[in-house]
Amino acid sequence: MKILIINGPNLARLDIRDSTIYGNLSYTDLVALIQAGAKTEGFEIDIRQSNEEAEIIGWLHEAADAHLPVIINPAAFTHYSYAIRDAAELLKAPLIEVHLSNPMAREEFRHTSVISGIAKGTITGFGPGSYLLALRAMRNLLGK
Ligand code: DQA
Repeated sequence: MKILIINGPNLARLDIRDSTIYGNLSYTDLVALIQAGAKTEGFEIDIRQSNEEAEIIGWLHEAADAHLPVIINPAAFTHYSYAIRDAAELLKAPLIEVHLSNPMAREEFRHTSVISGIAKGTITGFGPGSYLLALRAMRNLLGK
């Protein structure tokens, strides 16, 4: 079974982001970890990263057309992109929102997610483990 994993802006530069918040993993390391987790859960994954709202919206449209389940870390778009929310709402299969950090324990502007309301669930604060938990949750959701 195939799932799409989407990472939003600045996540490809984990190497230079605040390591006290995002840890020491590079984006390449994160992708390798997610790929290993997907294999464990029996998923074939397509993992993509973009800094652009329009590109992410296009990928969500693709996933809607293909009935693909999606795991998304919308990064900063989480907090204000109604356009990504509207696109995510078109999905036919479940969407799980993930975050490396726990936005609720950070600045106030991160306390709002415009995505959570249309997600099946949200997993935050476990570093790369958030993605592994999301893969496990997706497997349970899809009854595999
Ligand atoms: C993030 C949290 C967001 O608030 C932030 O803008 C990010 C990363 C996370 O994974 O913890 O870029 O989505």
